Amino acid sequence: LYKRAVAKELPTFLLLGPSGAGKTSLLTLLANGTPSPTHTSQAPQTAICQLPSTTRSSEDKYRSENDTSSRSQPSIQLLDTPGHGKLRHHAISSLTFPTALKGLLFVVDSAVLSSAAGLTETAEFLYDVLLLLQKRHTQGKTSKTPLAIPVLLVANKQDVFTSLPAGLVKSKLEEELGKVRQTRSKGLLDSGIGMDDDGEADEESSWLGEYGANGFKFAQMREHGVDLEVVGTSTSGEGEGEGEGRGHECWSWIGANV
Ligand code: GTP
Ligand code: MG
Repeated sequence: LYKRAVAKELPTFLLLGPSGAGKTSLLTLLANGTPSPTHTSQAPQTAICQLPSTTRSSEDKYRSENDTSSRSQPSIQLLDTPGHGKLRHHAISSLTFPTALKGLLFVVDSAVLSSAAGLTETAEFLYDVLLLLQKRHTQGKTSKTPLAIPVLLVANKQDVFTSLPAGLVKSKLEEELGKVRQTRSKGLLDSGIGMDDDGEADEESSWLGEYGANGFKFAQMREHGVDLEVVGTSTSGEGEGEGEGRGHECWSWIGANV
């Protein structure tokens, strides 16, 4: 009895991405079924939500379709972080603390990505996040279970007519991440870091994805324990009616990774 009373740490999903991408809107949508108006976040916030009854969770994998016994849908915790450049330490530190971290939703504004500045800002942030996950995985390798983590790239604001479709969001970011990687590795060489004896290892550990590869592809992250999927979404359920958030695209990914 006592054991049951101890609150289990909830599976946690982290929301991060540039300011204005729609993280807080997505949080309110997933938690309440409808999006609420938001302000630029200045501090992290959490919401506890239960998986909608229509979402299959990974726990259902071995359930028969004919099993009619009632099942309780798992609850999860969403952790929203501020995207502003000066407040990103919240997002970065959240990556290292929760042991119950099940996955990461990197939210982007798909309309902003058609501008060069928007693309660069988003890619630089994503680069930092992915490199951190890669390093986390490398360090985890010395222990028995390397820390693998799934990432959902949320191509948000698909309702905006200047938005890039999800597939293009993915390929544009891959291309831009390749450029960031090029710039960073050049920066390392120029600064003299990585020029000494064990320098090569240094350079290799700060290189995102497949070392030495020409272009960057998200698939290169798989060997570093990062499985990335892309989904196109919108948080403004125009014309979709009430309860749209219950059937939101993000849920099936969350369910599969609980
Ligand atoms: P920070 O807290 O600054 O990091 O930003 P955020 O990622 O939390 O963005 P937020 O959720 O506050 O959304 C920013 C603005 O974009 C708000 O005015 C939202 O209403 C709007 N927005 C969010 N999602 C969508 C969407 O799917 N479509 C459209 N058209 N607008 C959206
Ligand atoms: Mg916010």
